[in-house]
Amino acid sequence: MNTAFLWGAATSAHQVEGGNIHNDWWAWEKQRPVTFRSGRACEHYERYGEDFALARQLGHNAHRLSLEWSRIELRPGVYNSRALAHYRQVLLTLKRESLTSFVTLHHFTNPLWFAQAGGWADASAAALFSQYVERVVQELGDLVDYWVTINEPHVYATMSYWHKRWPPHEHSWQRVLTVIDHMAAAHIQAYHVIHRYLPRARVGMAHSVIGYFPARPTSRADRFVVAVLNWGSKQRWYALTRGAHDYLGINYYFSVTKRAAWRWPFMYNQPWSGATSDLGWPIRPEGLTHILKALQSYNLPIYITENGVADTTDSQRPDFIRSHLRAIEQAQAVGVDVRGYLHWSLLDNFEWADGFTPRFGLVAVDYQTQQRLPRPSAYAYKAIIEQSLRRH
Ligand code: FCB
Repeated sequence: MNTAFLWGAATSAHQVEGGNIHNDWWAWEKQRPVTFRSGRACEHYERYGEDFALARQLGHNAHRLSLEWSRIELRPGVYNSRALAHYRQVLLTLKRESLTSFVTLHHFTNPLWFAQAGGWADASAAALFSQYVERVVQELGDLVDYWVTINEPHVYATMSYWHKRWPPHEHSWQRVLTVIDHMAAAHIQAYHVIHRYLPRARVGMAHSVIGYFPARPTSRADRFVVAVLNWGSKQRWYALTRGAHDYLGINYYFSVTKRAAWRWPFMYNQPWSGATSDLGWPIRPEGLTHILKALQSYNLPIYITENGVADTTDSQRPDFIRSHLRAIEQAQAVGVDVRGYLHWSLLDNFEWADGFTPRFGLVAVDYQTQQRLPRPSAYAYKAIIEQSLRRH
């Protein structure tokens, strides 16, 4: 890895900021038990300066965050100058701390007015999103190093429109496909809006990639299942958004082994007997190497925009980081152009429908006192970063 390699961590607005009271998540949380409400979260809206200084002390040279659309655009076309001024300060602070910025424009939450008008299932979604993006580019464009238009369209679409776990809690395959199509259109439009103002901008998105392995490598049925899943979750998306990526942003958490079956849904997951995270997600770094090699054909620089583990005791995280970095190196060794790694997450935070129980942070947060305490893994990561920067 050379000196240009970017090392850091990622967060998203609703998960860390606290006090996001104009979006669809907040509206839903109000109906849930108090322990499942984002509330003050990590108070990052006020404490961002302290948090970025900490990231810097932990050796990071890059940072990914998201802007909260619902704070910025209060009603269609009505922008909040205080929120824009706030995010200007946030981005200026990143610059002062010499942290290269990855700025996400949509990370799961929607302004209430947008959700009430049909959200991502409505035909107006891409146009409404592009208007917001245009305003952000005008106001903050000079301070953004890497643009991440949309975070994980497939995760958003399936959790919200199939599994009923996230707002608006629907269950319809047609909706899932429509939402993915609208997000693809929104990404493409945003890509062009940003480039119209900033021709040299680096624009991408963060795509969630799950590694799929056939249970029986010699079985044509298992291999067919894996091929279909890879097509639906990866190739189709990159075909839909072709020509609208200056880099590929990859969020990797786990892989699954698939076995074909003769009845609906014609496949199932082979049980995993290896290590898992606190959320039960299999820890399988080899899947990352596999995916990175497959992505090489797109001929674009790759940044790992998320990779992390729910691990309250921090007993797995140091090794998780080491093994996934080794997996990246293995892909680099055969020529895959990976240029950065952003760990999920800098801080413990609000893990969506699971609330505050899963702990993804390099830095532990005591939600009573808002005290930050770097975990041993944060220092293990720091040592890796320093060693790598010394080598190059
Ligand atoms: C990803 C999300 C991120 C976080 C991690 C654990 O799918 O992008 O916000 O919740 O999972």
